[in-house]
Amino acid sequence: MNVLVTGGCGFIGSNLVRLLLAERPDWRVVNLDKLTYAGNAESLADLRDHPRYRFVRGDIGNGELLADVMRTERVEAVMHLAAESHVDRSILAPSVFIDTNVRGTQVLLEVARALSVRRFLHVSTDEVYGSLGPTGLFTEETPLAPSSPYSASKAGSDLLALAYAHTFGLPVVVTRCSNNYGPYQFPEKLIPLMIANAVRDRSLPVYGDGMNVRDWIHVEDHCRGLVAALEKGKAGQVYNFGASSERHNIHIVKQVLQLLGKPESLIQYVKDRPGHDRRYAIDSAKAQRELSWTPRHRFEEALAATVRWYVENRGWWERILTGEYLKYYETQYGGR
Ligand code: NAD
Ligand code: TYD
Repeated sequence: MNVLVTGGCGFIGSNLVRLLLAERPDWRVVNLDKLTYAGNAESLADLRDHPRYRFVRGDIGNGELLADVMRTERVEAVMHLAAESHVDRSILAPSVFIDTNVRGTQVLLEVARALSVRRFLHVSTDEVYGSLGPTGLFTEETPLAPSSPYSASKAGSDLLALAYAHTFGLPVVVTRCSNNYGPYQFPEKLIPLMIANAVRDRSLPVYGDGMNVRDWIHVEDHCRGLVAALEKGKAGQVYNFGASSERHNIHIVKQVLQLLGKPESLIQYVKDRPGHDRRYAIDSAKAQRELSWTPRHRFEEALAATVRWYVENRGWWERILTGEYLKYYETQYGGR
């Protein structure tokens, strides 16, 4: 099968491209990525000469380019991950989130429809459901109530994808996953940011009281879920993915410090994120039942392995922490 992965140079995309090439030996993978600040061609540099892999630098908002690539490569299935993905950036500058996540997704859907692809996997997020109180889990039936510009733009694209299934019969499957962690995550997200700061003895900025809860899943488990949804999901359906690993942020920050042998005095409580969702927690029973998918990684061991990966691959993230990122860090965290 010929698959187009969008956003393959990002965190989840690069892990997915590797998984597809390793575990689907008769698939050809075309990775279309704009290489924004979050896209890093270095994450897949070793695949440059791989016979079943091609990288195209491009914007999902460019319909002509998409149609040309998809025709030339005879793309049969799309796995759509390209997005602006960071909540804090969506608060500082929301426009590009609409351009890429909403408008870009619609352009891609339109080209997929015109070329009659056999499958369109839209990679959405549990953040479209909004925030939970102290109890309960998100199911696929939970009403969408996004609270940040990021999650609102993802809800827009999620609903557009489902509308293309309903209205035009495009064979769309939507997945909604909880917070990922693992190798190749851009060091602006909680876990890699805390590791990179702790390694360099810099302060660890914890928003609010540190008691917000996220439900963590290892990126490889998410990627296996995406393959299962592509292969076994029913058109027009939504599947939640999560690994039942709810943790308070402060607990994770302390674990990272412990794993690195650094003192808790590095923790610095900072001003809360505006509109900060309190708790996310996922019910993934439908995916487990209908896609025969189950998460393999346990949080504590996989977090330790992730910390080791960042220690051993310091060059990868240090090269990122320059230029544009420094400007962002200054705006987001001030002089800290
Ligand atoms: P990321 O920010 O690491 O990567 C996004 C990639 O998309 C980058 O390589 C970037 O260059 C590319 N991109 C951005 N705009 C583009 C455009 N206009 N055209 C082409 N490429 C473009 O994000 P991620 O964490 O890997 O997330 C991937 C997808 O998974 C996103 O759709 C995100 O909403 C979703 N998701 C992420 C998580 C998570 O915890 N990270 C959880 C659930 C869902
Ligand atoms: P993040 O990794 O940005 O993911 P999301 O907001 O999409 O869930 O943040 C995870 C949690 O960590 C969230 O509750 C915000 C918190 N957080 C901090 O406390 N400090 C930070 O510097 C960052 C980036 C996040």
